[in-house]
This record gives sequence, C-alpha cells and structure tokens, in this order.
Amino acid sequence: MNNSKQVQSMRKVTVFALLLFTFALSTACRYDMQDQPRLKPYKESDFFADGKAMRDLPEGTVARGQLKEDKAFYTGKKENADPNIQVETTTDASGNTLVSSFPNDIEEIPMPVTEEVLDRGEERYKIFCMVCHGPVGSGDGMVVRRGYPQPPTYHDDRLRNAPAGHFFDVMTNGWGKMNSYASMIPVADRWAIVAYIRALQASQNPQGFGNEGGRPATNSNTANEESNTNGTAGNTAGNGGGDQ
Ligand code: HEC
Repeated sequence: MNNSKQVQSMRKVTVFALLLFTFALSTACRYDMQDQPRLKPYKESDFFADGKAMRDLPEGTVARGQLKEDKAFYTGKKENADPNIQVETTTDASGNTLVSSFPNDIEEIPMPVTEEVLDRGEERYKIFCMVCHGPVGSGDGMVVRRGYPQPPTYHDDRLRNAPAGHFFDVMTNGWGKMNSYASMIPVADRWAIVAYIRALQASQNPQGFGNEGGRPATNSNTANEESNTNGTAGNTAGNGGGDQ
C-alpha cells in the first residue's frame, strides 16, 4: 500500500519535471520566423556584385502554366501570321469598319465544341455581348436601341463566312468602336462564345450551314427549314417585346 503510493507520487514528480524541462527548452530556443535574415525583393545587397538582392531571371524563363504554346488557342492566329498584311475593308452606313479578308485568322475553333461549351458560350454571350449585338446577333441590343452605335449583324454572308479566329480576334483586341473584352473573358470562354455565335448563325440561316468544319451540323434544321424560320421569327419578336 505504502509502496504504491510512493511510486505514484514519484511518477507525478517525473512528469512535472519533464514538462518543466520541455517548456524551458522551448523558450530557450525561441526563434522568430518573422525576423529571419532574408532580403526583400528590390532591396539592396552588397552580397552580389550588381548590388541587387534580386537575381535577374534567366533569359526565356516562363512562369509555370504561362507557356501559351498553343498559338492557335491563345491568339486565334495562324502559325506564320503576318502582322503587316493588308486586309480588305469597307465602311458601312453606320460607320462600322467591315473587313472582308481574313488572311491571318484560323478557320476553326481550336477546341472540341461540346454541349457544355455551347451552354457556357450562351451564358457568356448573354452577359457580355447581347446588350449591343442583340439576342440573336442582329445588332439590335438594348444599348443600341437607346442610341449606342449599331454593330453589324452576324447574319450576312461576310460574317457567316468569316473564320472562327476573326470573332476571337474582335473579342481579344477590340474592333473599331468595340472595346477589347480580353480582361473580362478568359480565352476558353472567348472560344465558347465563338461556338455560340456559330449556333446563332445556323439558327438564322439553317440552309446555309452544311457540315463545314468547326461549325455546328444542322442537318435536322435543314429538314425542318420552314418550321425553324417561323420559330425564329416568333422568338425575335417575343424577345423584342420582353426587353422593353
Ligand atoms: C457596347 C456594345 C458592344 C458590346 C457589349 C459588344 N460589341 Fe461587338 N461590336 C460593337 C460595335 C459598335 C461593333 C462595330 C465596330 C466597328 O466596326 O467599328 C461591333 C462589332 C463586332 C463584330 C464584327 C466585326 C466585323 O468584322 O465587322 C463582332 C464579331 C463582335 N462585335 C463580337 C462581339 C462579341 C463576341 C461580344 C461579346 C464578348 C461583343 N461583340 C460585345 C459593339 C459591342
């Protein structure tokens, strides 16, 4: 009885001593990480001959994920695009610059066009483009109806036959009176919008679209040509009324 009590109290003493030791150790070795001896970017240093703490990046350094090797995807331009090439342009009645030759733009959307991509494109189009270009791209958006310069329709032969890269270019770099949307719309979303514009074009001109590369197949539309046209007319009228 006596013995086990002694053992118990000895244990307590040992535990206490150990704890004390640990605390003593941790305070003695305390080292503040916020005070570590390092140099801040752009600070001076006499360690290197050029007096700068920062080292210059080796030439050709690219940050992880920023290589943008896929030129077609990131620029919408052909591999050997010539920036000085002359393009044919005319000016329409509203003062828009109409271009009719597209020597540098890639023909097709450089990523698979799935249903999700089209849905995303529709959503983005309605957020960023519809206010001016209108619900189906006829250039009759609400802002235009209130006095903003009217953009050209997407549904003439010129823009129906324009390569996918042209639409990407307009969003990326702006076009005439239209501002660039590059800072607001990420690259993949810009292509999704191009895909949706192709769908809008097919919806307004079902016979004109065969199975050309990169454009939505419209076989069923062609078969129901008449009912489609009627449906579209109804839609446009409905949208116009609803927006007022
Ligand atoms: C604030 C109004 C406005 C918005 C928003 C807008 N645009 Fe435009 N867009 C214009 C005007 C105006 C023009 C005609 C510019 C010119 O030719 O000077 C134009 C022209 C265009 C053209 C035709 C270029 C050509 O070859 O004639 C395309 C394609 C286009 N826009 C796509 C888009 C897309 C895609 C979006 C959404 C990301 C968008 N626009 C958003 C006003 C707008």
